Amino acid sequence: MPGLLLGDEFPNFEADTTIGRIKFHDFLGSSWGILFSHPKDFTPVCTTELACAARISDEFTKRGVKMIALSIDSVEDHRHWSKDVMAFNSETESPLPFPIIADDKRELSIQLGMLDPDERDKDGMPLTARCVFVIGPDKKLKLSILYPATTGRNFDELLRVIDSLQLTAQKKVATPVNWQPNDKVMVIPSLSEAEAAALFPNGVTTKEVPSGKKYLRYTQL
Ligand code: BEZ
Repeated sequence: MPGLLLGDEFPNFEADTTIGRIKFHDFLGSSWGILFSHPKDFTPVCTTELACAARISDEFTKRGVKMIALSIDSVEDHRHWSKDVMAFNSETESPLPFPIIADDKRELSIQLGMLDPDERDKDGMPLTARCVFVIGPDKKLKLSILYPATTGRNFDELLRVIDSLQLTAQKKVATPVNWQPNDKVMVIPSLSEAEAAALFPNGVTTKEVPSGKKYLRYTQL
């Protein structure tokens, strides 16, 4: 399958996980969701990523985002690996604060276009790439990113994009390069000057450019 497009309804798959069998839409309820895949259990980069995700899981909860990981091993392997992950964080007594999907038959990885053809296990089977899907409360895909198995992700960036997604779902703005919460935002091009003036009481400033076109419009929310 070519993969999901932004705006597509995310499949309501059923899967075994470390918290039992789930139907994905029921798992999400009315929350936002983030699904992140991993090439394999007991691998170094994946362990650092899961440990980071666990450390900052409160930040996802604060934003109303339910987290779920996926790797192509069994529930039993995931449970053992979770202990390593929490030990990496020096939190041996705490459980991993989110479930891991057991995609040991690679069915979901194939359905969602997550396999990395360049990385294979010892039997020559392809491993999962580092895929991230952010799903909105309407169950539609809001963001996807795909990294190869050899490059770990930046989970602070995932929080940043969730902040942008949640803000731009509510207001007619877009967030510029390297935006951080509370920075100025940009007025979307489809809004007229009059509409922008009415919507943004803090005012709209426009950067002059040689074309004379007034498209670089900022406001402070
Ligand atoms: C890792 O998580 O360290 C990893 C997994 C598969 C290929 C390369 C690195």
